[in-house]
Parts: sequence; structure tokens; C-alpha cells
Amino acid sequence: MKSKANSILSFPAHRPRRMRRDDWSRRLIQENQLSTSDLIYPVFLLEGSNQSQAVSSMPGVNRVSLDLLFNVAEECVALGIPVLALFPVIDATLKTPDGKEAFNPNGLVPNAVRELKKRFPNLGIMTDVALDPYTSHGQDGVLDDEGRILNDETTVILVQQAVTQAEAGVDIVAPSDMMDGRIGKIREALEQKNLIHTRIMAYSAKYASAFYGPFRDAVGSAKNLGKADKKTYQMDCANTDEALREVALDINEGADMVMVKPGMPYLDIVRRVRDEFNYPTYAYQVSGEYAMLKAAAQNGWLDHDAVMMESLLAFKRAGADGILTYFALEAARLLKASK
Ligand code: PBG
Repeated sequence: MKSKANSILSFPAHRPRRMRRDDWSRRLIQENQLSTSDLIYPVFLLEGSNQSQAVSSMPGVNRVSLDLLFNVAEECVALGIPVLALFPVIDATLKTPDGKEAFNPNGLVPNAVRELKKRFPNLGIMTDVALDPYTSHGQDGVLDDEGRILNDETTVILVQQAVTQAEAGVDIVAPSDMMDGRIGKIREALEQKNLIHTRIMAYSAKYASAFYGPFRDAVGSAKNLGKADKKTYQMDCANTDEALREVALDINEGADMVMVKPGMPYLDIVRRVRDEFNYPTYAYQVSGEYAMLKAAAQNGWLDHDAVMMESLLAFKRAGADGILTYFALEAARLLKASK
């Protein structure tokens, strides 16, 4: 027969379930929270007016012309989303091997920046610095005779692109090209032109990932790129130490914020970057991650809102200060409704 003393000794020393018992005590011990202020909303921009095209591989995402984008910007302001990130869909006739449309001061992006800042001065606007929407071959840089991506020649064009965007009034330039040394060159050029308030969010640890597929459909670079890949500049998904070296370089060269991309499959990288540098750190929940969750939800295999919020909170838990996500609008609406 079991003695009384014995059964007392067999109590669990700790009962973590005690704090999980009620909603109020679960809230009391909650370590991380998602807020609308953490969200950056990437949008695809078309030429013309009154244009809206669904992106078939990204349910719920539309490419829109600037007049329709104003409505999106208005909702972002109303919900408190801090930043809109612009990705242009460039007309095929403007694409060239050197991507020079990227620094046309009257091009789609600089024009949109000016018009958005005029109407929504308190909404942050971010632009991508990379040549892939503008090149006839779909690569982020210019090529040599053997088809290799030239680093320093590309950087010269990227600097012109970033300065053009900054002169149009953009708040954040975001080099997503992965050329070596471009952050330093862009920072130097901005300083020389006294564009000292333009923030740089560096895509520092950007991997050569298959999760970008739907994005390349959305901006129309997939057909230009064909079967080629970006492995000579984007990182090998097998590496983590290399990500820290890339981040260190970009911080030293003058980045205000650093980014890890893709997001969900790379949360280990987000955590290492956070711990190593304690520097403003962002993650990009990319098109393929969005497509994956949407597809499962559409099939009734996952609960849409629940997985959306869980996936975004996971970025916060991994140490990200913010998330670029195509879910930004839906998540912000949900956060507002649950207040
Ligand atoms: C372009 C760029 C890409 C993305 C953002 N900027 C695609 C690529 O590198 O091929 C991907 C974003 C996404 O998949 O959501 N340099």
C-alpha cells in the first residue's frame, strides 16, 4: 500500500499548466506579441490607370495601377501599417540588357513615390534596388560576354537607381540584389547628394530560394530568367555563418536595417542575426510562403487566420523587429478587430 508521504513526494515539482489554465494568466506570461507596427506591405505596381490584375499564384494579391494603389495606401494609413514596399511590373518594351529604365527619374517607381508621398506624407514608402524587373534577361545585374553577373559594373547602376528613388522622396531604399559592396557605395552617394535621411534596409542574407517563384510571376521576370538561377550572388541555403558575415558587411557599410529572406524556413538565421548584432532586423515572408499557406487554406486543410497569425508571431519569437508580408493588410484588419 502506498503511504501518504509517498504520494505527496510524487507531486510534480512544477506545474506549468497552472499558468496556461485561464486566458488572463496566459496573457500575463505571453513573451511576444505581433503589432500592426511590425508589418511592411509589399505591393505590385502597374503602369496606367484603373488597372488591376490578379496574381494567380498569390490568391488575394493584385497588381494595380497607381490610382488604385492610393486606396491601398489609404487603408494602410487607417490601419497603422507603417510602410508600403513597391515592386514594379515593367513593360517588356522597356527592358534592356543593362536595365537602365531602373534610373529613369520619370519611370514608374519614382513617379509613384512622388505621388504617394504627396498624398500620404506619414506613410513610409520603400523601394527595391535591383535590376531584375528592368533587365531583358531577368537577372539582378548586368552580364559579361559569358553571361556572368558583373559586380562592380552592376553596383554603378544600382547606385544611380537608389539615388533616383531617394531624389523622388522615398523613405527607405532596399537593395535586394546581393552585389558585394553596394551598401557602402549607395550610402556614399546618398551622403554626397545630402540625402542624409534616406534609410537603407539591406537584403543582407538573401538566399537563392525556390520560394520566390510566385513573385517572379507577379513582376513578370520569370519568363525573362527562364531556366537560369541566381546562385552566383544570392546565398546557398545550406549556409548560416556566411549570413552573419554578409550582415556584418552591410552594417559596416552603413545599412540602417538588415533583412533575412526568405522567412519561415530561415527563422534560425533571423535568430542568429538578432543575437549576434542586436541591430534592427527584418524578415521577408516571401511569395512562395504566402502561396503555400493560401493554397492550404483554400483547400480547407489549414485555418487561414490562425496559421497567418501564428506564422507572423513566429517571426517575432525568432527576434525580428518587423516582417515584410503579403498578409500585412489582412493581419492588420484582424489585429484591429480583436482589440
Ligand atoms: C528582386 C526581388 C525578388 C524578391 C524581392 N525582390 C526576387 C528574386 O530575387 O528573384 C522576392 C520576393 C518574394 O518572393 O516575395 N531582386
